[in-house]
Amino acid sequence: MKMKISLASLLLLAAVLISSCYYDKEGLLYSGNSGPCTDSTGTVSYAQKVVPLLQQYCYSCHTGSFPSGNQLMGTYTADKAMALNGKLYGTISHAAGLSPMPKGMSKMTNCQIAVIKKWIDSGTLNN
Ligand code: HEC
Repeated sequence: MKMKISLASLLLLAAVLISSCYYDKEGLLYSGNSGPCTDSTGTVSYAQKVVPLLQQYCYSCHTGSFPSGNQLMGTYTADKAMALNGKLYGTISHAAGLSPMPKGMSKMTNCQIAVIKKWIDSGTLNN
């Protein structure tokens, strides 16, 4: 009886380990967190690289007359203001003290975050 229990728990442990391994790998494959990040090499264009990401992850909640959390995005002026006050990078990188964004979705990939960071670090150009 004792033997059976420990065998069962071993099997359970093995199953948990195997499935968590599988999950991790899946996360790596589909989150784009592996491999080189080519999107952030060279000049990062606001219109071509940054806006599509913000559109996909942010604009649904942060545009219009009543943007969520009273945080307006969706124009160059508004996006730039959020970049300059540190909240754009802070929220997407899940910095302490800020509400992590995009709300209700998984964190953006390292590569996507790197694209936005490069745009900010290069002077938030309207390019
Ligand atoms: C599903 C709706 C939703 C999405 C998508 C979303 N937000 Fe938010 N955001 C909110 C809400 C609601 C708040 C108000 C604070 C809270 O409830 O966490 C907020 C707050 C914020 C704040 C203020 C945070 C603070 O702690 O002061 C910033 C900056 C922000 N969002 C930026 C973004 C960015 C950048 C994206 C895209 C990467 C994004 N949000 C995507 C709903 C959203």
